[in-house]
Amino acid sequence: MITTNLKEAKQELNSEGIIAIPTETVYGLAGNAYSENAIKKIFDLKKRPFYNPLIVHIKSAEFLTEVAREIPEIAQKLANEFWPGPLTLVLKKQPHIPDLVTAGKDTVAIRIPNHDLTLNLLEELEFPLAAPSANPFGSISPTSALHVFNYFEDDLKVILDGGECQKGIESTIIGFENDKPILYRLGSLSIEQIEEKIGPILTKTNSTDNQPAAPGMLSRHYAPSTDTYLTNDVTNLIQSYPNKKIGLLLFQKQLNNVPIEHQEILSKTGNLDEAAKNLYASMHRLDKLNLDLIITERLPNTGLGKTMNDKLERATKKE
Ligand code: TXA
Ligand code: MG
Repeated sequence: MITTNLKEAKQELNSEGIIAIPTETVYGLAGNAYSENAIKKIFDLKKRPFYNPLIVHIKSAEFLTEVAREIPEIAQKLANEFWPGPLTLVLKKQPHIPDLVTAGKDTVAIRIPNHDLTLNLLEELEFPLAAPSANPFGSISPTSALHVFNYFEDDLKVILDGGECQKGIESTIIGFENDKPILYRLGSLSIEQIEEKIGPILTKTNSTDNQPAAPGMLSRHYAPSTDTYLTNDVTNLIQSYPNKKIGLLLFQKQLNNVPIEHQEILSKTGNLDEAAKNLYASMHRLDKLNLDLIITERLPNTGLGKTMNDKLERATKKE
């Protein structure tokens, strides 16, 4: 049920149940990070393979040492700069974090979400929340309570409604190798924003499907169920599909040769942050139109444009 009742949310979590929570990035499917029962329910509902570990959401930076150890100086600096916010740090874990959360790794992914309702909830709980995005494995992430409901309906007793996600794309993930920061997943915090604080950062975002050693980056992901293509030249690609019902995901400008109701414009003013906020909601809408195919336009490769191009590449990857 979609609700704003924190009491029900708390009750469910305290009895090892799972709920959906709003964050500034996307909605999460959350359970007690210290309860194997709760974590199993998350994997089960999401149909997520156990080799893919979860992010642990904590209420404040003081709590960091309860879940992580041997924290590199740069990690602390990044936490100070960007938490609460769309940054996940992969750090050495404390022994009491269940293997199920970390897929047996010696590291744990951690962030503080920047959303009042969820921060209030975390404040009232005696444990952190493990939460992947609240979508079935491989499908488009949810950016509203209704998206979550459309996926899981009454399988979730509590879908905490915190409105539309303000960022609209997952957190950026940074890990450490020999104390050097490595960018593992492009997300809502742009590379430029990170480099402004800590200088140039190495990127390792291509891992193989069952070895997401560089985490979070399975090759095919975020995919609509409609056949979807990515291109620099939408007008040209449309011509390859005569007599097809085509949906368009466009950055700024609509086109004349496709019905307007089949077009999604991400930002009329060409603002990449606005486009990011709208991206998944637009994909959800197009996916519901029973189209033959969706054509998406590659975005300018800067700031969150880079992140969106990465997501779109994964969404359109053909097996
Ligand atoms: O914005 C977000 O990060 C959202 C909200 C709900 O916080 N969560 C999210 O979770 O995107 P999920 O499960 O969809 O993505 C988490 C990624 C996974 O791809 C996983 O591989 C990576 O984080 N990850 C988690 N723990 C890891 C670890 N110990 N080492 C490497 N990668 C890890
Ligand atoms: Mg996800």
